Amino acid sequence: MSSIVAPTGITMGTGVPRLDPHAVRADFPILGVSARGKRLVYLDSAATSQKPRVVIDALCDYYSTSNGNIHRAVHYLSERATTLYDASRETVRRFINAPHVHEVVFTRGTTESINLVATSFGQAFVRAGDEIVVSQLEHHSNLVPWQLLADRAGAVLRFVPVQDTGELDMDAYRRLLSPRTRLVALGHVSNALGTINPAREISDAAHEVGAAVLLDGAQAAPHMEVDVQSLDCDFYAFSGHKMLGPTGVGVLYGRTSWLDRMPPYQGGGDMIDTVSEQGTTFAPLPSKFEAGTPDIAAVVAFAPAIGYLQRLGMEAVASHERDILAYATERLAEVRGTRVIGTARHKAGVLSFTMEGVHPHDIGTILDGEGVAVRAGHHCAQPLMRRFGVPSTARASFYVYTTREDVDAMIDALHVVRRVFG
Ligand code: ALA
Repeated sequence: MSSIVAPTGITMGTGVPRLDPHAVRADFPILGVSARGKRLVYLDSAATSQKPRVVIDALCDYYSTSNGNIHRAVHYLSERATTLYDASRETVRRFINAPHVHEVVFTRGTTESINLVATSFGQAFVRAGDEIVVSQLEHHSNLVPWQLLADRAGAVLRFVPVQDTGELDMDAYRRLLSPRTRLVALGHVSNALGTINPAREISDAAHEVGAAVLLDGAQAAPHMEVDVQSLDCDFYAFSGHKMLGPTGVGVLYGRTSWLDRMPPYQGGGDMIDTVSEQGTTFAPLPSKFEAGTPDIAAVVAFAPAIGYLQRLGMEAVASHERDILAYATERLAEVRGTRVIGTARHKAGVLSFTMEGVHPHDIGTILDGEGVAVRAGHHCAQPLMRRFGVPSTARASFYVYTTREDVDAMIDALHVVRRVFG
């Protein structure tokens, strides 16, 4: 295949650009550390991704050259911080193709984004007897806020069942929808199984009954192209730290027509227009939803994370992860007694599995001793674990820096587990 020089880590050929994870790794200082005296094999990117040097440098540069509070003063540093903060918002807007920059609200992360909608949309639009549709596949952060809202408002949660493959039962989903449905809140990609849900189909069906749609994109935005206009969702939530950015920054995309009619989530500085002893009028979007001093440095350093992903190209990112997932799934079958949980046709880079006779925590501990980091547990998705009749799973999750050698190291370590447990 002929190739031309492209940004670090990318080879251009005739089809989808190919990502070279070895070149990418050179940009991630932490991947050079050793763990337990072994080469670090980091397979827990669904929990949090590692950060490229450009992001680490942006954090340091911000505090070294630009630290001031935003939207508050006329002095040089405040102006500089404000410019950088606002520029990040535009970077996010372009990344998800939101129609308007005021539809991008910065939060602390996906969890806060979803809680914002549950509280504020809930207060404005959810009444006793109304229904909210979620699924058995959800991360607790896209379940518990709706349970709290249902308790407060006297609303009812309806659960889309999950099939043996880990896919949503879309016929059952359609049957759950009715004029009582106020909101559908579903994950775009499952953190525990990797299933990619048919988001556009979900939106279309919900809109037919007049319901709003929130997509939990925590595990999607880092791994694939997300275009909120073609998804036609009303809300889209995701986190910076799972997509090469810092912790402490997340995004809520919301359609203007909803955000405009929703009350503030928190009261405080920056979200007001005028305040008197009698009452307060609120700032326009998005400030209405950004009370108090945000994590400015994290927001600023989120932009180079997005820039890094854009240079690789989200198509190349997704295709690389598919390749690693296919390789890892095939190799896992070599290890006696393993069972993959989640065999959906469309999956992101997540491989959840169990091993006969071995508790997932023991898998995690032995792998850790070999320098291999996976997550073992219920993955904040207890209803899903119950659905599959397991208390927990071991989960390897992949990203732009994951190599086939990483997968080989995990398989070798799983053979050690097998030897220990017989
Ligand atoms: N939601 C993160 C995970 O799936 C923490 O690991």
